[in-house]
Amino acid sequence: MPQTVEVDEVIPSARRLIKSLRDVGYNFTTAVADIVDNSIEAEATQIDIRVEFDGEDSWVRIADNGRGMTEEELLEAMRYGSEREYSEENLGKFGLGLKTASLSQCRRLTVASRNNSSSMNLVARCWDLEHIERENRWEVIRLNGTELEPGITEPLRGNAGTVVLWERLDRILGYKHPYGEPARKRLLTMCRELEEHLGMVFHRFLMGVEGSRVRMTVNDNEVQPWDPFALNEPETRVLPRTEIQLEYAGIRGTILFEPYILPHKDDFTSPDAFKQASGPNNWNQQQGFYIYRAGRLVQSGGWCRLRTLDEHTKLARIALRFSPALDEAFKINVAKMHVQLPGQIKEEVKKLLEPTLKIAQETYRRTSSTPRPGQVYRPLQNAGSLPREIRAVNSGRSTPGMPIKTTSSVIPVPQQVEVQTGGSRTSGDRYWTLDELNEILISLAEPEEFPIIEGVFERLRSSLNTSRDER
Ligand SMILES: Nc1ncnc2c1ncn2[C@@H]1O[C@H](COP(=O)(O)OP(=O)(O)O)[C@@H](O)[C@H]1O
Ligand SMILES: [Mg+2]
Repeated sequence: MPQTVEVDEVIPSARRLIKSLRDVGYNFTTAVADIVDNSIEAEATQIDIRVEFDGEDSWVRIADNGRGMTEEELLEAMRYGSEREYSEENLGKFGLGLKTASLSQCRRLTVASRNNSSSMNLVARCWDLEHIERENRWEVIRLNGTELEPGITEPLRGNAGTVVLWERLDRILGYKHPYGEPARKRLLTMCRELEEHLGMVFHRFLMGVEGSRVRMTVNDNEVQPWDPFALNEPETRVLPRTEIQLEYAGIRGTILFEPYILPHKDDFTSPDAFKQASGPNNWNQQQGFYIYRAGRLVQSGGWCRLRTLDEHTKLARIALRFSPALDEAFKINVAKMHVQLPGQIKEEVKKLLEPTLKIAQETYRRTSSTPRPGQVYRPLQNAGSLPREIRAVNSGRSTPGMPIKTTSSVIPVPQQVEVQTGGSRTSGDRYWTLDELNEILISLAEPEEFPIIEGVFERLRSSLNTSRDER
């Protein structure tokens, strides 16, 4: 028999809690990105951000052409801790982003929405901190069509979608001199940073490799995707991809480890391309892991405490992809700015890093003897135990966003490479040193084969030394 317990309901103080939740760690760019998450999740293909400077009346508006919300859905969306089911690939998580991200930047948040399936009426609600401070109740203000300014209704004229409007931008402008030139300049700089941030965080959506292509504008400027792996550079190297299995708190999941080596400075197609690939925080800071959750970048650069930043490894960038099922393992925070590499996979990741870092250092020093795209390796003498012909041919680069269909852990190397033994030497042929050959095989091998190759080469070296000694 279940026991009846006597309870008292203790509702949080709206005034105090909403105020504290303004400080969960957003800044302007990460807050806008969280609103954009919602638009993408609502299947928007066009997201327009407008930042208008008008002193105290300045505003920020994020308008999408997604599926929109019915009145009931909008009310639920405005609730702190919206109740909903999340699927494996949802960008949302806590049911907080819309409110906490917005009110971390402004004192008045209005959401207007039009949904295709209902009567196409526009519905709108508003969280206003003045109202909350006065009433100390969890109340949103109901706004009807006639009370809405054209600024909010105009993007929804005739089509489904959602508009999020931020007003009284106390945190963005600072209230001391909101009309001054410094405030205007500050806002302009923030817009530039925003463009850059969105181009990086959502590059896969902007490039159309995560479903339909999404377009974004900031004050009518089209946001350009920034691909950390510079895949349009012919000398970028895509190393084999590995699947790491993880079980955490009873949930099994797969993490994809995809290493890339960006070209040496002189091997970029132009100095501009080199500069562009550098990224928002420049080469040194941008080396390391790029952690993606459901296709959206949640952390860019840095080695998650596995190693320190190093000029010599700055060309190494590694995509780590996980699905929201593994959120607990990665300890994702509300503002989606930080994750932690799960302790269980650290050793495996460290091991996988070794060959990548080695190639990155060689590329940096230009000592690499490993194959470059288009290079063909010629007859090799004195290697009796090697297969007659090793051939690894791939149609091109690995396709970002392509789901892995097999359980095989590796995608073939992207270069077209032929290593042949036997045959007669022609004038263009050359001998390869054992070290060079070792490098070639490592670059063709799957990570689990690395120790085998290293072992064989060690034996080969010592047997060659022995036979030289005997001679
Ligand atoms: N632009 C939008 N279009 C359609 N629905 C939205 C939009 N923004 C928010 N929502 C709805 O509001 C809910 C709450 O959003 P949010 O507070 O960001 O939490 P979360 O994204 O974690 O669920 C979302 O789950 C979604 O159902
Ligand atoms: Mg959200």
